[in-house]
Amino acid sequence: MLTAGNPRRCFLAGNPSEVSHAMTTTTDHAFLADALGPLKDREQIAARLLESSAKHSFDPDRELDWDAPPVEGKWYWPPELVSLYDTPLWKKMPEEQRMDLARHEAAALASLGIWFEIILMQLMVRHIYDKSLTSNHVRYALTEIADECRHSMMFARMIRTGGAPAYPVSRLNHNLGRILKTVSTTPGSFACTLLGEEILDWMQRLTFPDERIQPLVRGVTRIHVVEEARHVRYAREELRRQMVTAPRWERELTRISCGEAARVFSLAFVNPAVYDNVGLDRREAVAQVRASGHRREVMQTGAKRLTDFLDDIGVLRGVGRKLWKSSGLLA
Ligand SMILES: [Fe+2]
Ligand SMILES: [Fe+2]
Repeated sequence: MLTAGNPRRCFLAGNPSEVSHAMTTTTDHAFLADALGPLKDREQIAARLLESSAKHSFDPDRELDWDAPPVEGKWYWPPELVSLYDTPLWKKMPEEQRMDLARHEAAALASLGIWFEIILMQLMVRHIYDKSLTSNHVRYALTEIADECRHSMMFARMIRTGGAPAYPVSRLNHNLGRILKTVSTTPGSFACTLLGEEILDWMQRLTFPDERIQPLVRGVTRIHVVEEARHVRYAREELRRQMVTAPRWERELTRISCGEAARVFSLAFVNPAVYDNVGLDRREAVAQVRASGHRREVMQTGAKRLTDFLDDIGVLRGVGRKLWKSSGLLA
């Protein structure tokens, strides 16, 4: 069974009884291990991700039919993933209003996605600033930044095509994001990357195969899921490596900053302006979403793969764990 254990456990190859200090070289990580097992070589992982990127990358401008009119009767987001689903308010809403709310929430999530990606691009650029210019690791980071550039443009185009407005995050969260992307140390950056990527990814995996959904939204989410799988892999491997090699203060800071990011993320997840824009009482709607058992389950299920992973590598401890619980993303 996997336990959080001591993430700094490192074994010398061939002699696991010998415990050494965490190694900090950037090239050879064959000797590093955490509770999930030995860490793989950074360059090898990046080489594989580059290979996969060469085979499965998309140009959304050409790949998707942006001029096709929306299909009558199809949703912009699966109803079960709409914030108010199954609440007393939802039960009173006519079908047309529910579908309208789904369209606005899809636009709000795409806006959140763009915000995240822009933060992420900056974190990635800072991550590679001091690294070998010709390494696979840096080349893959640049590939991922290029993916995110295309994604943000794709999400913006999807919002415009759907006819709902863009939903920027609140001024406060916008400025918290500014601090994070400017000061976050590297393990914190990768923990936040995963927070932004994995929950939305879980929702998109349910969206693209769903025949009730608008073809354009299915196309957008399919492209995003395929390319995002590589990003998640890269960030997970890097976070594991950094939690093993970072000094104690930095690991502690990562736990707290990641817990705080989870708390902000869960509050910012759906912009409450969507309720005004479909003719609902904002306060009432927000209160019903907060009280919704279905919603809690959706968010916790969406976060489960991530929280299990973070728990295994020792990120969910102490104050950080409490913040995760208060975010509602951790049961
Ligand atoms: Fe993306
Ligand atoms: Fe990504």
